[in-house]
Amino acid sequence: MQVWRRRHDPLGTSIGLVPTMGALHAGHRSLIQRARRTCQTVVVSLFVNPLQFGPAEDYGRYPRAQSQDLACCREENVDLVFIPNLNTLYPQDFQTTVAVSTLAQRWEGEQRPEHFQGVTTVVTKLLNLVRPARAFFGQKDYQQFCVIRQLVKDLDVDTRVILCPTIRESDGFALSSRNDYVTKSQRQRALSLYQALSAGKAAIAGGLRRADLVEKNMAKVLDARHGLAVDYLACCDARTLEPLSRLRGTVVLLGAIRIGGVRFIDNLIVRIRR
Ligand code: PAJ
Repeated sequence: MQVWRRRHDPLGTSIGLVPTMGALHAGHRSLIQRARRTCQTVVVSLFVNPLQFGPAEDYGRYPRAQSQDLACCREENVDLVFIPNLNTLYPQDFQTTVAVSTLAQRWEGEQRPEHFQGVTTVVTKLLNLVRPARAFFGQKDYQQFCVIRQLVKDLDVDTRVILCPTIRESDGFALSSRNDYVTKSQRQRALSLYQALSAGKAAIAGGLRRADLVEKNMAKVLDARHGLAVDYLACCDARTLEPLSRLRGTVVLLGAIRIGGVRFIDNLIVRIRR
């Protein structure tokens, strides 16, 4: 990877990187297309990173679809698909981790204690290997984007981190590689997360500024559904991810639920003008 990069981008100005765990869907594709529009050279990485899965999580059964992924990358005119080997990326004597503190400890960090450390470690390695001018991440995983933006700032990584919108199905359901884990009826129930966040957004648009009341509005939508556990549902400052009491500026509505052992996360950003 490093030899290729030195040859193709000696000035370090032209590469766009889209890091993924494969099983590419229209959400990933939109990131690749954004990179294609803005960068001379597009690199997509496919790597199911064991470090970011907890011991009871789905590393073993995470979908792997390399030939379809390669076909997708070919269709999107990707210049290089980087598929690192597990033992090459993490040799036996591997012993370094990269961890972001406060931002990574909340929300997903509380539910999945080792997760972000795994993400920030692999993303640091990918950024060092590819040295992209720009790296593209989806709003779908908004906290991940915030954590990576912090990492890049704190460690003076010479890459611009670009946030791309969440791609949804026509009813609003956010695309995810894990969506195939659930049945049709579970998917219908999972859709209520987006509906709850939308209810929160509508309440804010209607003038509500008290976070507790907006959160109540969102919870009401989820309470009506059976067999669904709420991990969190909150109105936060879009930069710090700290919970707000009075809503102002750019707010992110964050939510996570569990249905039949599968977790779903989603979020909406709301800009309040006054
Ligand atoms: P993965 O889940 O494969 O996602 C790769 C990228 O696609 C992430 O930036 C994610 O936010 C984005 N993405 C996923 N679903 C999306 C959707 N519906 N709309 C828009 N973008 C979407 O996130 C990871 O992999 C890993 O943690 C990774 C960053 C690759 C590190 O291992």
